[in-house]
Amino acid sequence: MEVLISESYDEMSKAAAQVVAKTLNAKPNAVLGLATGSTPLSLYKELVRLHRNEGLDFSQVTTFNLDEYVGLTRNNPQSYHYFMHHNLFQYINIPAQNIYIPSGTTDNYEAFCQWYEQRIVDSGGIDLQILGIGTDGHIAFNEPSSSLGSRTRIKTLAQSTIEDNARFFDKPEDVPIYAITMGVGTILEADRILMLASGDNKAKAVAAAIEGPVTSMITASALQLHQDVICLVDSGAAAELTMTDYYRWIQDKQPGAPQTVPRPHFRKKSIVDRYLES
Ligand code: F6R
Repeated sequence: MEVLISESYDEMSKAAAQVVAKTLNAKPNAVLGLATGSTPLSLYKELVRLHRNEGLDFSQVTTFNLDEYVGLTRNNPQSYHYFMHHNLFQYINIPAQNIYIPSGTTDNYEAFCQWYEQRIVDSGGIDLQILGIGTDGHIAFNEPSSSLGSRTRIKTLAQSTIEDNARFFDKPEDVPIYAITMGVGTILEADRILMLASGDNKAKAVAAAIEGPVTSMITASALQLHQDVICLVDSGAAAELTMTDYYRWIQDKQPGAPQTVPRPHFRKKSIVDRYLES
């Protein structure tokens, strides 16, 4: 894992936008995995700015969102459909037919989840997956005890997630209990993963994910099994990491450092294939 510590949320978001921009410049028809929540808000603002002012082009891009609340229609202001259109899609030149967000209102979730997984495969797989992290260490809505091999499915939200997300709703009882979410296994098949975390309320989860054991109790720890993960954290979220001197030292050395680790991108191989080859 490459751990990059930024001084502020703003700096972190700009660095994240540069990772996305580089991906699109290298591969204009890249497939992006997208997250919602507070964390990527400034990243999306910066992508809109890059699109408007520097011509960052989304015309060939395809996106897959991680998750959606079950029971919320796409017009519901709390739905992730609404969030994405409101905060990103309406401002960039991505074709509507290239946008995939799990449905919170399908009448056949099992079939929908299989279709969603197949759409990701048919699109060539995700080149860059953006993730936030929950205070309980979840990625997408893979709550503690989720299988590390899980695929897109319905998950029951943990009480702590319901409480964390109540801030977006009028009343805590309005927070849906179920979500449709990509699985940990689905996420690990992305070519490259960019996890963002901001604020000291994320510090424990971040430390557990990066420096703790790989465990289904902190599903973000499964990222340790992936060979190309960038964790961009601000100083608040980095507060409980024990190896910060080392991360900063690598970070500072990077410009002139020899490229000892090959950074092959855009390979479409499963984590199992990669393991067998190593
Ligand atoms: C959202 C998602 C979640 C959030 C996480 C952090 O699509 O998949 O895992 O990334 O709950 O949420 P925020 O950023 O609101 O703290």
